[in-house]
Amino acid sequence: MTDGTASRRIGMPAPGPDRDTEFLKDVLDGLGQAVKALPAKHFYDQRGSRLFDRICELEEYYPTRTETAILARYAGDIAGKAGRGVTLLELGSGSSVKVRLLLDVLDEPAAYIPVDISGAHLEASAARLAADYPEISVKPIHADYTRPFPLAVKGGAERTLAFFPGSTIGNFSPEEARAFLARLGRQLGGGGRLLIGVDLKKDIGRLEAAYNDAAGVTAAFNLNLLERINRELDGTFDLAAFAHRAFYDRDLGRIEMHLESLKPQTVLVAGAPFRFQAGETIHTEVSHKYTVEEFRDLAADAGWRADETWTDGDHLFSVHLLTFRAPPVRLRRGSDA
Ligand SMILES: C[S@@+](CC[C@H](N)C(=O)[O-])C[C@H]1O[C@@H](n2cnc3c(N)ncnc32)[C@H](O)[C@@H]1O
Repeated sequence: MTDGTASRRIGMPAPGPDRDTEFLKDVLDGLGQAVKALPAKHFYDQRGSRLFDRICELEEYYPTRTETAILARYAGDIAGKAGRGVTLLELGSGSSVKVRLLLDVLDEPAAYIPVDISGAHLEASAARLAADYPEISVKPIHADYTRPFPLAVKGGAERTLAFFPGSTIGNFSPEEARAFLARLGRQLGGGGRLLIGVDLKKDIGRLEAAYNDAAGVTAAFNLNLLERINRELDGTFDLAAFAHRAFYDRDLGRIEMHLESLKPQTVLVAGAPFRFQAGETIHTEVSHKYTVEEFRDLAADAGWRADETWTDGDHLFSVHLLTFRAPPVRLRRGSDA
């Protein structure tokens, strides 16, 4: 049941009459920098969420089917370790598809709390899930998980299992990921658990193909950010004058996505002009890749003990079950956002 409660919009300033003020501020700030960049979280309006679902079905996009296969294979082990009556908290729940593999086998879960920034998509996904699992209390929270949001969990930290699939952790820099995991651990408390999907380092051809699909769905997802600016912030982006670019930076261990201006041009956003040179890009996303050891070290620095790691036979993707140990947490000064 959704308990008849509409999801709450938490951690974000109230929008103006027509505009999401945080989106406007981020766009004006991001396009005003010498190296233009926009936060990836703004990809996810309703259309962006739907395009992401289509990416998940692409032949080239191995992460979704690989993570799903790992979860399907080891769901029984995970449920055994999670124990009885856990509250399942999913961060960036999207369409709440993978979580069904866990809900099918968990021993009398107390509740499912999906958290997502994409409000309408979250509502629709939570309603579908609640209809399919009438015995489970479903309590969606519309929030930006990079900011504090109130979380009431019955049974304490030991009875809480956070779930962060999709390698969404890769959208943070390693420093941001460490700070995010430390904060999540403090929010859950010592003994809280996290089941997290992390994409692994692999050959560049395979990585770059996953972000440059032949059908152009990832390009449409990337360009939707400009369409969203046009729709919501009175933007004047000519979509035909920008091109999707995605490549792997081996030194930084990450995929970068950009939108490249194909000609010199000036674009208006909410009346403010932004000048683009031909070939200049807007950096829209990073997707960091880790080895199993690199990720376990990062999680340990944030206070999490690795209980178990599962991978597929081709070593494409990893799923880690972690437990928060609480202090001491070794964070670099200034990295705890
Ligand atoms: C890469 S998708 C993963 C979706 C799904 N969990 C999966 O594994 O297929 C990232 C999800 O996180 C959500 N998201 C991204 N940034 C967010 C933020 N700062 N706060 C809350 N949700 C966010 C997006 O709306 C999207 O549903």
